Amino acid sequence: MNRGKFITVEGSEGVGKTTNINYIRTILEQQGKEVVESREPGGTPLGEELRELLLDHRHTGMSEDAELLLMFAARAEHLAQLIIPALEAGKWVICDRFTDASHAYQGGGRGIKSSRISTLESWVQRWEDGSELQPDFTLLLDIDPKIGLERAGKRGALDRFEKEQSDFFERVRQEYLRRATESPERFHIVDAGETLTEVQQSIAAALLLMTNIGSS
Ligand code: TMP
Repeated sequence: MNRGKFITVEGSEGVGKTTNINYIRTILEQQGKEVVESREPGGTPLGEELRELLLDHRHTGMSEDAELLLMFAARAEHLAQLIIPALEAGKWVICDRFTDASHAYQGGGRGIKSSRISTLESWVQRWEDGSELQPDFTLLLDIDPKIGLERAGKRGALDRFEKEQSDFFERVRQEYLRRATESPERFHIVDAGETLTEVQQSIAAALLLMTNIGSS
């Protein structure tokens, strides 16, 4: 059984992740792939409880390290219970955010040193035999945070992250873009300010390339 592929979708608030994840899912299913969709923080019963704590305003002022560690605790559970078993069963996993979000939000946004985040990344994504799990493909939906936040605001009450100031989201965006430039073979950046048709054309072309490479 061939291992499935791991696809992650990233971007700051209001970039249209949900619509585009549905689109990716449709394309992959049309190709006959079995798809599992999940999200972070979340994706397991424990992860969803941690998500509630992380997004809740009662915890405004949570220490930066506690926030980072909770993100990785949820991720460790997600990997063990859902992501790795699904990939090993040949399924394709599409995840709404993954470790790039910790680098962008806790690193870029909060200012935690990237070496500290990388330590946790190795802790949960690297095994004793030296093998490592990284996404096979990461779609970065990029938008001016002012436009994204306006869109997010229209969806309803803002969570603990969405209440941050615009300079926080500018730092998040810059860190995402920096990481994408650093790993161009993994990332595909899409201008999420374009029309939905344009965005989806770009996603379809990138996925086609990726699935062709994947099957060769
Ligand atoms: P969502 O609203 O896109 O589902 O994500 C929840 C929030 O969690 C979002 O504001 C980004 C944030 N987040 C982090 O700060 N670090 C992480 O590692 C992840 C996965 C999400």
